[in-house]
Amino acid sequence: MNIIDIINKTKNLIPLTDGEITWLVSSYTNGEIPDYQMSAWLMAVCLNGLTEEETVSLTLAMRDSGGKLDLSSINSITADKHSTGGVGDKTSLIVGPAAAACGIAVPKMSGRGLGHTGGTIDKLESIHGYRTELSEKEFFNIVNETGFSIISQSGSLCPADKKIYSLRNSSGTVDSIPLICSSIMSKKLALNADCILLDVKCGSGAFMKTSEDADRLARLMEKVGTAAGKKCRALVTDMDSPLGNNIGNALEVREAVEILQGKRKGRLYDICIELTANMLQLCGKGNIGECSEMARNAIASGKALEVFRETIRMHGGDERICDDVSLLPQARFSHTIRASRDVKIVSVDSQELGMASLLLGAGRINKDDDIDMTAGIVMECEKGDNISIHAPLMTLYSTVCSDFSAAAMRALQALELVSI
Ligand code: URA
Repeated sequence: MNIIDIINKTKNLIPLTDGEITWLVSSYTNGEIPDYQMSAWLMAVCLNGLTEEETVSLTLAMRDSGGKLDLSSINSITADKHSTGGVGDKTSLIVGPAAAACGIAVPKMSGRGLGHTGGTIDKLESIHGYRTELSEKEFFNIVNETGFSIISQSGSLCPADKKIYSLRNSSGTVDSIPLICSSIMSKKLALNADCILLDVKCGSGAFMKTSEDADRLARLMEKVGTAAGKKCRALVTDMDSPLGNNIGNALEVREAVEILQGKRKGRLYDICIELTANMLQLCGKGNIGECSEMARNAIASGKALEVFRETIRMHGGDERICDDVSLLPQARFSHTIRASRDVKIVSVDSQELGMASLLLGAGRINKDDDIDMTAGIVMECEKGDNISIHAPLMTLYSTVCSDFSAAAMRALQALELVSI
């Protein structure tokens, strides 16, 4: 086998065999194929796609590039959840505790934010003391005690994805449905939960901008998960406007706690109930109506909040934030943007808000950049609202940045307004 033949086959739409894909992934991971040849192949995939069989082979080869977790010491059925990423997406912090409160185990590994999208690990690290790097033994112990734990992605799982993802980032080959599918699913299959719930975000703030692409990705991920022997379901949810009101690490933990306290309802709450219900149904807990009821009760009864509290405590974090969100890090500076006339909010572009939040210090441009846990945006309006002159549209927060002009300009560009 040689890499030139493999590049040419994909360039000419000739499907690769399982053996060729396995060879390609292992040869690139162990350094025998250089970055420039792998980039050429990735670009051919971006332009021509892969068949479903090829995508299954690629995913399994990436999964098998490292270890696979053995979850047999966890004493209930296990479920994992993954969102394809978006702005203000803190659903894992709500769905995990809610599902665990209903009797299933949710062991989860997550990543950090990059560019305009946030990462669950950064959000959790905004809680004083919360440790995201734990041994497998500690991780399993917490899951057995509380039903829920999130730690950072282990370096020993899917080394091929780590290498390929970073090459894709620097070679313009991120936006390919089979490559996104294999990247996400290889990590999910290496974590090895019994059931996998996927939340494919669709809209301006997401990788998938159209519902056709989001559906294609969702169906492909379900096929790959099922082919690998897992119970797998993919939902498509809207990311045309941000999820919830808060964007930014500590601000998002605050909003998640307020949902778990039962103090907030709305679109974020509804999506969390839908995701939790689907996860419970996948785990055999009942039909979708029964599972939705269980999810709502988990929050209304305070049981989901108790799971989150105990999980934070066992991770070394300050669990008192579950009663008093003001114990989360607070920004030194803030700036409220108000309506200069009576307006209707026609649309809210979540990608632009993500970029404004990045300018405030909430995100990273390069993967090793420091972030400001206090930074971000609290939206005071949403799509469809009528806002009177001088009423607030949003408030920007930061500790590292006291000059809000650039971020405010960017944030305002996110709103499409018409005078009323
Ligand atoms: N998230 C991933 O882990 N991989 C992708 O390719 C895209 C989103």
